[in-house]
Amino acid sequence: MKNILLLYFSGTGITSHYASLICAGFEKRGYKCDLRDLEELADLPTLWQKKPVALNYTINAEVKRPLSNYPWPYHDLKRALRSAWANPLFSGFSRDWDKYDLIGFGSPVYAFRPAPVMIRFLLDLPVFNRPIRSFSFATHDGAQGDYEVFMKEILGSKGFNFVGHLDQSFIYSASVVMRSTFNHLSAGRLLQKKSRQAAEKINLFLDYLESLDSDRSYIYPGPGPLSKLVGLPYRLVYSYGIDLILNHFLFGYGINKDNCILCMTCVNQCPQGLIELDDDGYPIRLYHCMYCLRCLNWCPTNALYFSPATKDKARFSGLEVLEESVKRHARDYKPHHS
Ligand SMILES: Cc1cc2nc3c(=O)[nH]c(=O)nc-3n(C[C@H](O)[C@H](O)[C@H](O)COP(=O)(O)O)c2cc1C
Ligand code: SF4
Ligand code: SF4
Repeated sequence: MKNILLLYFSGTGITSHYASLICAGFEKRGYKCDLRDLEELADLPTLWQKKPVALNYTINAEVKRPLSNYPWPYHDLKRALRSAWANPLFSGFSRDWDKYDLIGFGSPVYAFRPAPVMIRFLLDLPVFNRPIRSFSFATHDGAQGDYEVFMKEILGSKGFNFVGHLDQSFIYSASVVMRSTFNHLSAGRLLQKKSRQAAEKINLFLDYLESLDSDRSYIYPGPGPLSKLVGLPYRLVYSYGIDLILNHFLFGYGINKDNCILCMTCVNQCPQGLIELDDDGYPIRLYHCMYCLRCLNWCPTNALYFSPATKDKARFSGLEVLEESVKRHARDYKPHHS
């Protein structure tokens, strides 16, 4: 194991931060680690809008379908795998990725699964002839559900040798948009604490990866016992529960035109390029949104909201703002020794 590639999608920057921590862990041990943002690698609007149905939940979300029609996530995946194809745009990756001994694929957890755009990308990859070792990584707010199962299945179907999974919760950035306040300083401190925890966990994972090259043969145990143990109730809760929560609190699109300063930040930030302008020149979102929350969070005047639950609520303005807040506090409240 010498050359490592980490490929990630990040809606609001947390997964990107995590990928950097993982890369730093590899580099500390003398490996070469390349970081690639999916948005630089693939044209997301084309990837998404040509075949948007990575999974049904984002498409159907705005139709507010009856709960009884909710597709079981795992069946969803099986169906998607059956109709997977090799996107000619990505055929070059087989050659480009040949130099890597290990590739990590990461995204935030959305609705207990990998972010749909990452699933779409993986489904569109060609099948690799050489079983390159791969692992998945995720950031989430505490419940990653079937994330690992999805990644293991998809990467396996593309010829990768799936060796494990790494994950971390950071600052609960998604629920911020439903809270009335958001304290940058305490969130910044939490970020630092979680980053330290993440680094420790990454180290253990790297020990494990290195053990793969030792004489001991190791068989990846697969997703933890929890998903197998709790089985049906677990699937019911997350199938119906997440649908209920997201439909009522998150999905939707609203704009308070009085607050909009036509800065176009939301238009430029949308990774799927699906915010356009209406007849009056104000932003309007078309379908197939994947709810990364970037437009919502990044709007400088808080003109956008997705539901009454997110209207006039706090916003997560990016990791840099949190880090700056911690630094400023340390500067301003330096203990004075007289
Ligand atoms: C649409 C949506 C769905 C989410 N679903 C889950 C979930 O099912 N479980 C969870 O623990 N976190 C969930 N989250 C939280 C994100 O996984 C978490 O905030 C992540 O760290 C964001 O990473 P990013 O900044 O790279 O986008 C969700 C966030 C969004 C926007
Ligand atoms: S419209 Fe907003 S939430 Fe939807 S994908 Fe674009 S930036 Fe993300
Ligand atoms: S980011 Fe906000 S203020 Fe700027 S164009 Fe979009 S809605 Fe208007």
